Amino acid sequence: MTSVSDNPPHILVLHGPNLNLLGLREPAVYGKDTLADVDAQLEQLASSLGVLVACRQSNHEGELIDWVHEARERFDGVLINPGGYTHTSVALRDAIAAIEKPCVEVHLSNVHKREAFRHVSLTAPVCVGAIMGFGLSSYLLGLRALAQLLLPPPAPKSRAPSTRPHKRT
Ligand code: DQA
Repeated sequence: MTSVSDNPPHILVLHGPNLNLLGLREPAVYGKDTLADVDAQLEQLASSLGVLVACRQSNHEGELIDWVHEARERFDGVLINPGGYTHTSVALRDAIAAIEKPCVEVHLSNVHKREAFRHVSLTAPVCVGAIMGFGLSSYLLGLRALAQLLLPPPAPKSRAPSTRPHKRT
């Protein structure tokens, strides 16, 4: 899977509800980094990987769905932390399934170590994969995984001719 154009792959990063409060919100669970810190690190990693990112956050299900639809035409893939909608939103799941673009789900916390209602993700089954439990690094690992899917494979390294004499058999 490579970018639809000759331009670098363009990845839409979506942060769901309450993630605007990162840094203030339950820091023991979600860490002290703010959303601006997450986006700055994603942008830095994106430029070193050779992809572009556009980062957006919304507390509104419909707005997230509209943005996922936008990715159908305008982006090559989606990195998404659906927040609480992970566990509740059939509509967001349907939007991800509809766009036929690779989508990677990320979570700061390991949702499987938490309350039972967080153990089910409605969105993960329509994503390529999910990464969770590594705090801000979940996003960075997710971006690496998506970039690897979208970038052309690296050219094989040409081997320098060996200077060691061949052994006679
Ligand atoms: C979260 C986990 C969700 O269960 C929760 O509702 C969030 C954040 C995470 O990143 O760990 O808002 O998606």
